Amino acid sequence: MGDSMEVILDAPAIARRVAELGERLCADYRGLTPLFVGMLKGSFVFMADLVRKVDLPLEVDFLALASYGQGTSPGRLRILKDLATEVAGRDVLIVEDICDTGHSLKAALQLIGGRSPASLRTCVLLDKPSRREAEVLLDYVGFEIPDRFVVGYGLDHAEKYRNLPDVVALDSPGDPNRAGIPDRG
Ligand code: IMP
Ligand code: MG
Repeated sequence: MGDSMEVILDAPAIARRVAELGERLCADYRGLTPLFVGMLKGSFVFMADLVRKVDLPLEVDFLALASYGQGTSPGRLRILKDLATEVAGRDVLIVEDICDTGHSLKAALQLIGGRSPASLRTCVLLDKPSRREAEVLLDYVGFEIPDRFVVGYGLDHAEKYRNLPDVVALDSPGDPNRAGIPDRG
């Protein structure tokens, strides 16, 4: 294919780390009924694996935010899909695929934080600290990664590659509709 792809985290390594995060969450939320809020769409694979490693009476909901136009600049996020759950008094954990600039997570924290949850924490599979623009506290982090564009395990490039079982760096993202088709000279 035209893109150069390198596996950064393979499926077994991800599974081991997700199990560790699940154990910590289990210990930290013992005795509670947490609400795990997945940020769509990127978190859906991580969320599905993570909740199965947390042996608690947890609940799941999803939130979709979208940026107006290009990029995710502060204050330019709108709600595409709001929560169906009342969060007042709940112990909420936001589950996100990756924290890049931090604007998405910050917007989600502000939105949910304004609805009087009992507690509010964040859990991200991937953290790209070198890209941060907005200050956000990450309570649970799967892996810190360098500043490379990654796909797979829920993460996309133009909606493609979410179904890859590994996290893969895509160094020169091309036209995803042509993935698998060799470039012509
Ligand atoms: P933010 O820049 O932290 O607000 O991240 C916004 C969203 O951009 C994330 O939730 C991801 O869906 C997406 N994103 C950021 N970095 C990457 C990447 O390397 N690959 C795929 N999606 C990414
Ligand atoms: Mg995305």
